[in-house]
Parts: sequence; C-alpha cells; structure tokens
Amino acid sequence: MEQTFVMIKPDGVQRGLVGQVLLRLEKKGLKINGLKLIKVTEEMAGSHYQEHQGRGFYAGLISYITSAPVVVMVVEGKNAVQEVRKINGATNPLDALPGTIRGDFAQDIGRNVVHGSDSVESAQREIDIYFEPREIQDYNFLPEQWLYE
Ligand code: RTP
Ligand code: MG
Repeated sequence: MEQTFVMIKPDGVQRGLVGQVLLRLEKKGLKINGLKLIKVTEEMAGSHYQEHQGRGFYAGLISYITSAPVVVMVVEGKNAVQEVRKINGATNPLDALPGTIRGDFAQDIGRNVVHGSDSVESAQREIDIYFEPREIQDYNFLPEQWLYE
C-alpha cells in the first residue's frame, strides 16, 4: 500500500473546505493515517518547496503557505500518490476538470486549495517534514477488504 502527503492550504481552511476535501478522499476509499491542523513555519515551507527555490512565484508561495493554518494528512491506498493528484486536479485551476477539487473550488494557481505529493519519494520526504512518527497511525481499516481484490 502506498502513502502520500496531502495538505489543505490556507485558502482551503479559510474558505471552510476542509470537510469537502476529506469527503472526497474518504469516498474514494483512501485511509487516513495522520491528520492535524498546523501553522507552517518558514523552515518547513523552505524544505517542502526547495525544488521551487529561485522561481518567480517562490516568495509568494512561501508567504502564502505560512500565512494561516493548514491541514496536513498522511493518506494511504493503492496508488495513493496518483489517485490524490487526480482528485486534486491540475495545478492551475484553469486547466482543472470539473469534478476535481481545484476544478470545482479554485480559480488561481496561487490559491489552489490543496497539495498532493508528486511521487512516493516526495511523499516520504514531505511526511518527514510535517509529521513525527508517533503521529502516524497504522490500524486495521475495515473497508479495505471490500475495496481491494
Ligand atoms: P502541489 O505541489 O501544491 O500539489 O501542486 P503541484 O505539484 O500541482 O504544483 P507544483 O509545480 O509543485 O507547484 C507548487 C505550488 O506552487 C504554486 N505555483 N505557482 N505562479 C505559478 O506559476 C505557480 N506555479 C506553481 C501553486 O500553488 C502550486 O500548487
Ligand atoms: Mg508539487
């Protein structure tokens, strides 16, 4: 089973979309292993978005992500990385299809409600930035026997 890291960004929390995002992940059958509301520090943000350092949008991205609380999650399932990115939709909401979170709820690339890791390696790195091992629960998730063959 694969794990990914999901964040409901400050705009998602402020707009009251936490429940809507969780609903979509849960409906898909994804298992939640970790979940909390936090304020992202400059250090966490710099580490999370290190690949974007030097790009034009970097400063704005860091100040936005550290500006107000976010919800962070560890989410597990078959192909969880790819499945969450499908549920989130294209990075730019202008390209995101209806039925995706960004397609349904967002308008600007810099206010696109959610984050999902882009690979298993990124997921592990991002989980390590935002979670202590004791904050991640491994438990028997009963729906799995009806979700997976
Ligand atoms: P995310 O990491 O948030 O899930 O989004 P992503 O993989 O689809 O996009 P990524 O390329 O990793 O970019 C991270 C976030 O930076 C902001 N961004 N702004 N103005 C711009 O051209 C631009 N490009 C990226 C977005 O908020 C994006 O989600
Ligand atoms: Mg990304």
